[in-house]
Amino acid sequence: MSKQRVLSGVQPTGNLHLGNYLGAIRNWVEIQQDYDSFFCVVDLHAITVPHNPKTLAEDTYKIAALYLACGIDLQYSTIFVQSHVTAHSELTWLLNCITPLNWLERMIQFKEKAVKQGENVSVGLLDYPVLMAADILLYNADKVPVGEDQKQHLELTRDIAVRVNDKFGTKKTPVLKMPDPMIAKEGARVMSLTDGTSKMSKSDPSEMSRINLLDTPDSISKKIKRCKTDLVKGLTFDDSERPECNNLLTLYLLLSNKTKEEVTAECQDMGWGQFKPLLTETTITALKPIQDKYYEIMDDRGYLQSVLREGRRKAETVANETLSRVKNALGYLPLF
Ligand code: TYM
Repeated sequence: MSKQRVLSGVQPTGNLHLGNYLGAIRNWVEIQQDYDSFFCVVDLHAITVPHNPKTLAEDTYKIAALYLACGIDLQYSTIFVQSHVTAHSELTWLLNCITPLNWLERMIQFKEKAVKQGENVSVGLLDYPVLMAADILLYNADKVPVGEDQKQHLELTRDIAVRVNDKFGTKKTPVLKMPDPMIAKEGARVMSLTDGTSKMSKSDPSEMSRINLLDTPDSISKKIKRCKTDLVKGLTFDDSERPECNNLLTLYLLLSNKTKEEVTAECQDMGWGQFKPLLTETTITALKPIQDKYYEIMDDRGYLQSVLREGRRKAETVANETLSRVKNALGYLPLF
């Protein structure tokens, strides 16, 4: 039996942080062997908010290099750049004309980001989830490993697929494959270091709120030293009154590869003064090999380009086939 397909992506905006790593990329690495895996750098999504044209290309290289540095293995996975496969834009247009406007207006991330943009909010920001649906549906993805914040976009993707299939397919020959979200039990929602009730995010104006994958040991140490904690002695998971405690213990659990039981036993009698240096050391040790590999890959531009060229070739084959299927179902005059 052939392997199921996985597709996911990260935007080349700003630095990747522990949320992106623990909520998404690390899980990709864990499952990649069991699937036919496609991971893209979603650079078309990156311009849905104002962007810097001088850094976009370099940021795209950086994310691709980080995928490899985190352990994405080309033996199992394909890495490519979204804008290199033009089918993404084309399927987005077709899906736009099938997606009701009010489905998009309901999206939480749109509402949150639109507030920040004020009058400058672009049509692209509203349309962001349709482009994401196109990314997923083009590859007939069975599973989409993402963080918790993407759940609503996955539901929308499924709704769009149902609508296309109902309107243009038959029960026996659906046009689009129905994808399932894959959301990890731990790490699906890494919280800010300065406020345990809000998500760790690239767009938080405070650098102190997040640990980036490329942060120096000094910077990691400073951020953890100053991160928000509480006055309670003894560290425990799952106390709703202690969101920061739960978040920092979860980071320790994931970065040390220990089980919840082990961390509970180890930390239940600790104070913050003992725990913070432990978390600092663990974080620095976990990120060191990723950082070393990242700088090595970034130094070899020819290699990185060859990875993305080959990725594009593989991605295009799958994507163009789906695009033709959709255009046929919609009744377009085929090429001749
Ligand atoms: P982006 O770049 O915002 O986030 C990339 C991935 O990181 C996860 N993530 C988090 N996980 C846990 N805790 C956090 N604090 C945290 N912050 C971010 C996100 O859930 C995501 O998995 N729309 C997507 C990109 C995208 C995509 C796709 C994903 C475009 N097309 C197709 C999957 C399939 C996004 O927001 O990326």
